[in-house]
Amino acid sequence: MQETFAEIYEAVDQVIRRGGYLNIVLSAEFKHRAEVHFVVKGTVEHYFELKFLIEALAPKKVKPALVSLLLPALFMLKYSDIPRFAVTSGAVEFAGKRFGAGVKGFVNAVLKNVDKIPPLTGKKELEARLNAPYFLVEALEKDGFDAEKILRPEKSRLVHFRLGKKGSPKDLEGLGALESSEAGGWFSEPDKRLSALNSEGKISFISPSSMECVNAFGNIAGKSFLDVAAAPGGKSVYASDKGAAVTAGDIHPHRVELIKSYARRTGAIINALTNDATIFRSDWEGAFDCVLVDAPCMGLGVVGARPDVTLNRSPSDIETISRLQKGILSVSSRYVKPGGKLVYSTCSLLKAESSAIISDFVQNNDEFRILNYKNNCEFGRYIMPDDRWDGFFVSVTERR
Ligand SMILES: C[S@@+](CC[C@H](N)C(=O)[O-])C[C@H]1O[C@@H](n2cnc3c(N)ncnc32)[C@H](O)[C@@H]1O
Repeated sequence: MQETFAEIYEAVDQVIRRGGYLNIVLSAEFKHRAEVHFVVKGTVEHYFELKFLIEALAPKKVKPALVSLLLPALFMLKYSDIPRFAVTSGAVEFAGKRFGAGVKGFVNAVLKNVDKIPPLTGKKELEARLNAPYFLVEALEKDGFDAEKILRPEKSRLVHFRLGKKGSPKDLEGLGALESSEAGGWFSEPDKRLSALNSEGKISFISPSSMECVNAFGNIAGKSFLDVAAAPGGKSVYASDKGAAVTAGDIHPHRVELIKSYARRTGAIINALTNDATIFRSDWEGAFDCVLVDAPCMGLGVVGARPDVTLNRSPSDIETISRLQKGILSVSSRYVKPGGKLVYSTCSLLKAESSAIISDFVQNNDEFRILNYKNNCEFGRYIMPDDRWDGFFVSVTERR
């Protein structure tokens, strides 16, 4: 158990204290993979509830590093079948080794009293149930959304894939998709054959909402296509498969490598490069038929797949991210040819990240007009998250 605790502790600490992305942290090799995935994901999904438990159980402020141990231990006590004794002794022994024998008694006392804490009420109960800070719940409700639906998405999410250039419908025979078409389909969870097809580049796991960001351009065969915030590359590869000549930028060199390896795996030809989309470059001015701004965002439409997006957030994040999105859109719009299209998308739903960005953009750029691509509001289309679709906002504009 101690060895498992060590792996769990490191992974939780990476996500909670050091801001690592859950999906990236869990993509590492683990000796006790199944347990680590179950506990770390569960801890993140119940973070607010567990954090309040620690606050109630510990009289003084607990060292952040120790919190990364208590959180998963409390999760195991509350939500797993692992015997209480194994959890408590594993956590106490690990704590002694990691933080010194002096903390053993404290850890033991916290874990022993977990059932004595009365149920949460009021704001804390809401934050614990939705696993999100109150200001995010309030911001969503203020924008007219059902915060509960967005922040507590369906547990039984289906996995969507699409058939790539290297694959053929024959590859999908006998896979037992819940629903399929020549273009792809949904599965309850990726089985080994599906994962193998993905590794061979024959299929790609991609949400249909992400595909909509590319479909929104209409026919892109033979067109020049710039994806300014492209990593890991799902939309760029799809655009390439649809026949566009794709240039894909991202600010982080290590993420540009992800685009390159995605392209290699799937056989897509993509010009991938490191580029900060907030800085104008004259060589791209008016050069592209299609420009996609799939902006960095709060990710509130994908809480089901990425439960860590609501952690470590502060109210000022909304303003900060919105400013970045406006900056990227403004610079990127200058790369669109007259008559070309600009798509702005986010996997987040707050108005400050979606319709308000487009409203501001068209007010300040009268050479762009909003086109109707399945629009359900004045500025574009909101896709609500459910068991099949990620929550997205997609807006298409055209340069006159
Ligand atoms: C929503 S993700 C893009 C997902 C991608 N379009 C896909 O479909 O795979 C946003 C991306 O923006 C990148 N990014 C953040 N700030 C940026 C900037 N100033 N310039 C370019 N890319 C940026 C992040 O590294 C991240 O990869």
